Amino acid sequence: MPGNGKENRLRARVVGLGAAVGERVLTNFDLEKMVDTSDEWIVSRTGIRERRVAAPETATSDLAAAAAREALTQAGIPADRLDLVVVSTVTPDMSFPATACLVAERLGAPRVAAFDLSSGCTGFLYGCAVATGMIQAGMARYVLVAGGDVLSRITDWQDRSTCVLFGDGVGAAVLAAEKGERGFLGFRLGSDATGGKYLYLPAGGSRLPASAETVAGRMHYIRMNGQEVFKFAVRATEEAALALLSDLNLSPADVDLFIPHQANLRIVDAAARRLGFPPEKVVVNLERYGNMSAGSVPVALYEAVRDGRVSPGDLVLMVAFGAGLSWAAAAYRW
Ligand code: ACO
Repeated sequence: MPGNGKENRLRARVVGLGAAVGERVLTNFDLEKMVDTSDEWIVSRTGIRERRVAAPETATSDLAAAAAREALTQAGIPADRLDLVVVSTVTPDMSFPATACLVAERLGAPRVAAFDLSSGCTGFLYGCAVATGMIQAGMARYVLVAGGDVLSRITDWQDRSTCVLFGDGVGAAVLAAEKGERGFLGFRLGSDATGGKYLYLPAGGSRLPASAETVAGRMHYIRMNGQEVFKFAVRATEEAALALLSDLNLSPADVDLFIPHQANLRIVDAAARRLGFPPEKVVVNLERYGNMSAGSVPVALYEAVRDGRVSPGDLVLMVAFGAGLSWAAAAYRW
């Protein structure tokens, strides 16, 4: 409403989106030949039918740069106008330099501020929250946030309880400082490290550097307690969504589109049911991609916009959960 001052508030608005996924399609039937599993088990327990796997020579920065280029083109903004590049990933090209620096160089913005952010599947929303803070503090006008992973590199292809779940992909958004009602309205971020043991990668860091023993012990691959993560995910998605909507004096009935983290259809359905969202308000693409970690939410947002599911004025609610264990919710006025 005019006169309430909201039209003058500085917001971070998405002015361009991009996505890049692994080029090879790996179906459940392909997996049947690799581990003791079945299409029937995977579909009924997860909803996933196929996922994308990056070519051996493709690293996270390659997918991130491709997604970023598309987002910049859509935004109509040259890369050298970016003030900040954030890449949210747990599969950086290397420990350092930051993958964000590699992406910035590739985009033609070599002097931009750039850093990586590690918070697993919640990474894209954490990145958007940081970018929004920088924008509202007057420290940046244009920010590129890319979220995603090449999880196939840290997936144990001998472990049927995890290898059927994941896929490779990155989504990117260009955020611009703009006054008005449109843009991110708020975030709820949190974590509970008592659950860190349920989803982790044991070796390769300062605790357990790479050695012949860690390689022999298959300790450079994702370890997960699926049932614990499942319980956490349903609870965290509901609680983060309700807390954020309450912060904003909104309710689930105000939400036009719900974009949850794409880990498992049963988690999505349970969270949507608890929040009262009918299927037509829920974005699901996990049947084609599996869980792309930090790439899930931005690629789902990209596809929802591309497919005309978002109209000006719509309230979009995005919620993710993942390693940490962490959670993140974001409300966005399109
Ligand atoms: N094919 C066939 N059988 C399997 C497979 C498989 N791929 N995987 C496990 N099983 C078996 C198990 O060995 C078990 O057999 P048992 O009863 O003889 O011991 C049986 O299926 C049931 O296993 P559960 O683990 O109880 O199956 P559940 O219904 O919990 O589904 C799943 C497992 C899909 C992993 C589920 O727990 C889940 O989705 N959890 C959440 C995981 C998640 O969201 N992770 C992502 C977090 S973010 C990130 O990682 C980047």
